[in-house]
Amino acid sequence: MAGSEGPRDGEPARRGPGRRIGRVRDQAGDGHGVADVIDVGTVLSGRYRLEEPLGGGGFGRVFTALDQSLGRRVAVKVLTLRDEWADDERSERQGRFRREAMAAAALSHPNVATVHDAGDHQGRPFLVMELLRGRDFGRVLLERGGLPVADVVAYGAQICAGLQHAHERGLVHRDIKPENLMLLPDGVVKILDFGLVTQRDSKLTRYTDPHAVMGSPAYFSPEQAQGRDVTGRSDLYSVGCVLYALLAEGPPFSSSNYVGFAYLHVHETPEPLERRRPDVPRELALLVHEMLAKHPADRPAGAGEAAARLRALARPVPPPPRSPTALDQGARHLVWTLLEEGEGLLRSGRFADADRRYWQAMQQIARLGADREPASFAAQFGRARALEGLHGLAAVVRRLENLSDEAASALGAGHPLARCLADYSAARPESSL
Ligand SMILES: Nc1ncnc2c1ncn2[C@@H]1O[C@H](COP(=O)(O)OP(=O)(O)O)[C@@H](O)[C@H]1O
Ligand SMILES: [Mg+2]
Repeated sequence: MAGSEGPRDGEPARRGPGRRIGRVRDQAGDGHGVADVIDVGTVLSGRYRLEEPLGGGGFGRVFTALDQSLGRRVAVKVLTLRDEWADDERSERQGRFRREAMAAAALSHPNVATVHDAGDHQGRPFLVMELLRGRDFGRVLLERGGLPVADVVAYGAQICAGLQHAHERGLVHRDIKPENLMLLPDGVVKILDFGLVTQRDSKLTRYTDPHAVMGSPAYFSPEQAQGRDVTGRSDLYSVGCVLYALLAEGPPFSSSNYVGFAYLHVHETPEPLERRRPDVPRELALLVHEMLAKHPADRPAGAGEAAARLRALARPVPPPPRSPTALDQGARHLVWTLLEEGEGLLRSGRFADADRRYWQAMQQIARLGADREPASFAAQFGRARALEGLHGLAAVVRRLENLSDEAASALGAGHPLARCLADYSAARPESSL
C-alpha cells in the first residue's frame, strides 16, 4: 500500500501534514462539498483523475476515475473525514479504511471486488478498485422486487464462494447486506466493502473498540447483536438474511431501531420463508432457515458447504406435470378478484392496501405456476403503481421498464396488456425526474 500510514488501532489520529490540510479546508466546507480536498477533477498520486461520483455510504465516497498510467477506468473510494468528528471517531474510521484496503488486497476471487492500489492524498486515504458497472442489491430490490428463485440461488452460491475465499484467509466480512453486494449485467455478483472486516488471530487488525460500528441491524447476526465473538458463520447468517430478503422482498425481521433488531435476531424465529414466498422449493427454504439459526453451530459448517448446497439446488429439476384441478380454478378466480380489488383501492388512493392485494394475487399466481400469464403482469403492474403512489415515480421507473420488456417478451408486443404497459412507462420518461 503506497503511503497510507495512519494511526494504529485505538490510537487517536494526531498531527501530520494531511490532517492539518484537512482541517483548514474543512472549515470552509462540510467535508463533502466543493471545499473538500478531494473531488471531481482531483488527480490522486499523480495518476488517478476523479471523474464522476458513483455513490457512497457512511464511510467513503466512490468515484469513477481514469488511471492515467494504464489508460483504464477504475473506481476510487475516498475516506470521508469530517472536521466536527472527535479524534477517536476519525481514527476509528481511518483504521476501518486501512483494514478494508489490506483485507481486500489479500483477496483474489471472481466474486470479490478487486483492489488494485491504495494511497494517501493530503492525508486522506483512498482505495483504487476495479470499476464495476452494475447495481447493488439494495437498488435491485427496490427496482425489481422479489427475484426469481433460480436467480437467487445462483447469486447465493456466488456470495458464498466469495466468502469461502475470504474465510479461508482468516477474514470475516461482518457487514454482508444488499448494499454491499453488486450485481453485474452478466449475472456475476461481487462482494464490496470489507470495511468492518476482522482478521482472526491478528492483534493488528483485531476489532476491539466497543463503540465500533456493528454492521447493519437488519442483516447482522445474533452474536454481533450481543457483541460476542464473530466468525465466518456470522457472515453466513447475514447471507441467510440477504437471500430471505431477495425472495420475500424484505429481510426476516423489521424494526424501527437498533435495539429492536437486536432483540429479534437473538430471540425471534423468522416467519417461514415458504409462507412469504410460496414458490420457494422446500430444500432452499430449509437451507436459508439453517443459515438463520440462532446458534452458529446449527448453521451450515462453512461458506464452502453453503455454496455447494446452493449449487446443487441450481440444477434444474423439471416440475412434475400436473393437470388443472378444481382448486386451481378457485385460485384463478381468487386472483382476478384480488386484481379487481387492487384497482378499486388504487383509484381511491389507498396504495398500501392496493399493494397488499396485488402481492396476495402474486402469491396465488406463483402457486399456480402462472408467472408468464397476463394475470401475473397485471398484478406486477398493479404493484408498481401502488409503489409509485407510496414512494414516488423515481422508485419504480426502472421496475416499470423491466416489466414492460418482460410482458412484451412473454405475451407478445401486440398483447393489450403489453401495449398498456409500454404506453404507461413511455409516458414517464426518466428525464422528467
Ligand atoms: N468498485 C466499484 N465500482 C462501482 N461502484 C462501486 C464500487 N465500489 C463501491 N461502489 C458504489 O459505492 C457504494 C458504496 O461503496 P461501499 O464500498 O459499500 O462503501 P461504504 O463503506 O461507504 O458503504 C456502493 O454501494 C456502490 O454503489
Ligand atoms: Mg457499503
